Amino acid sequence: MTKIKVKKPIKISFVFLVLLIVLLIFGNKFYKEHLYKQTYEYKLLEINYSLEETKPLIKYLNQKEIEYILTKEYNSNIVKLVQDKYFIFNNLERYIKYTDKNNDKDIALIIKSVNVNRDLDFYENPTKTNLEDKHLMLVNKYYFLEENYIPENLNTVSLSYSYEGNSINEEVINAFMELSSDAKNSGYTIVINSSYRDYNSQKEVWESRKVLYGTRKADSFAARAGHSEHQTGFAIDVADFFDEEDTFGNTDSFIWMKENCYKHGFILRYPADKEDITGYSYEPWHYRYVGKEVANIIKK
Ligand code: DAL
Ligand code: ZN
Repeated sequence: MTKIKVKKPIKISFVFLVLLIVLLIFGNKFYKEHLYKQTYEYKLLEINYSLEETKPLIKYLNQKEIEYILTKEYNSNIVKLVQDKYFIFNNLERYIKYTDKNNDKDIALIIKSVNVNRDLDFYENPTKTNLEDKHLMLVNKYYFLEENYIPENLNTVSLSYSYEGNSINEEVINAFMELSSDAKNSGYTIVINSSYRDYNSQKEVWESRKVLYGTRKADSFAARAGHSEHQTGFAIDVADFFDEEDTFGNTDSFIWMKENCYKHGFILRYPADKEDITGYSYEPWHYRYVGKEVANIIKK
């Protein structure tokens, strides 16, 4: 009797099926691993960031920025830096350099300092200021106005509100008259003592101070030509009617001014505790007009 062999194909297909399942399981595993290796989490772990540290990096940085981080060595400070509200990616290398030099300063201070250029020396490679928004043009030891810059709409201030020979932008005059009347209603006198100064007058001011006190001291209270807010036409020095400007800080008018000037669009520009940022000693008499909206934000 002959046997009919039907079992062999079944055996073969069974083995084939098992192989296929094994292949699928491992194939899937390898494929997933391959995909994971393409992720930023994996790549950051590879250069020693911990799993916890990869989270803020992925959350706060875009693709191009992470790619850049991946070209650098592990640095735990980067993780702290990216989480700060005022972090600017383009300043990253400067933050890192400044952190290395100032490891006693906290990250928030590092970021604020670099964002206002304090990692650079005063007057180091200054930039021409952006003139698009006159109210907000930044003129300081890093941003300058050219020699021939003369503000538009300069007007003479009436002697009821100012000492002789003062002119400023007409919007600033109107805002100051409002401010002065407001102060008067509360019983205080505030007048303009000094206002617009052109490039050459500022040059004379700074050079005369330099002759008297030397460069370092002169720089602490006078701006070099092109770097004074007085050239913008948006800055004023004020006085109580009976006081010289230097004693304005001791008057009740100053207390009123400090609390209320923002309501009329002015800000105190060189406060007592900000010398390291502004580069100037405390000037209770110097105010900058920035408009009510921005003054409100700055006050807050
Ligand atoms: N005194 C201020 C800083 C100026 O000279 O502009
Ligand atoms: Zn001033």
